Amino acid sequence: MEMVSTSRSANWFLALYSSALGKKTVMALTGIVLFGFVFMHMAGNLKVFMGAEAFNHYAEFLRAAGEPILPHGAGLWMFRLVLLTSVTLHITAATQLTLLNRRARPVAYVRRDAVQLGYAERTMRWSGYLMGIYIIYHLLHFTVGSAHPSFSAANPYGNVISAFQAWPVSMIYIVANLLLGMHLYHGLWSLFQTLGCNHPRYNSWRRVFAITFSVVVTAGFLSVPIAVLTGLVS
Ligand code: HEM
Repeated sequence: MEMVSTSRSANWFLALYSSALGKKTVMALTGIVLFGFVFMHMAGNLKVFMGAEAFNHYAEFLRAAGEPILPHGAGLWMFRLVLLTSVTLHITAATQLTLLNRRARPVAYVRRDAVQLGYAERTMRWSGYLMGIYIIYHLLHFTVGSAHPSFSAANPYGNVISAFQAWPVSMIYIVANLLLGMHLYHGLWSLFQTLGCNHPRYNSWRRVFAITFSVVVTAGFLSVPIAVLTGLVS
């Protein structure tokens, strides 16, 4: 009896996941986790304005997350596992959704609102690909250090300052973070739709929410390379 109900709920789950709504729900939920990370990361980066000691102390605090309950580094790896799983599920569901949509409407769009939807979808896909490339570069740059000419694991503050003093590097970050802002705006807007909060009465609030958070996150990230380029932080 119990086995029947377990297999029934597994079937229910599989049926939900194979539908477009199921995939969108996975995108929305993993999007919330990724957005949470991005917001915290942006807020943490602002410590750069408090000087080297505050910034490096914060980086060390993150690396030692969970101690003394968890062994050294385990908290950080658990956190990385959650992030990696969320990114993988987010990309997988997005790819499957694109394939599903392509199969469902092989004929070109006719209606105007459908054309707009296509535009948002395309923007999300391209900004998503570019974000993927940016994140790989970013990890090699500030975490692994192989893409940084004067990397020092003990001095994340120094790594950030010396990197952004080279304007081509700052430009990569500025463009990538503007793309992130666009991706976040569309993502935050459609997240509510997926989770069922799309009553016309609340749509203006949804827009205000999506604009506010994407602008705050983008401005926070951009402020770091801009402050270094202008000599405000050195
Ligand atoms: C100007 C913008 C940014 C700056 C200055 C910045 C700075 C940094 C620094 C210094 C680290 C290394 C921390 C350490 O190991 O001590 C780091 C790690 C990281 N950053 Fe960024 N970041 C920026 C934007 C972003 C964005 C937009 C994303 C994602 C969308 C991102 C994702 C990550 C990830 C995943 C890590 C690795 C965390 C780990 O150790 O597992 N960063 N960032």
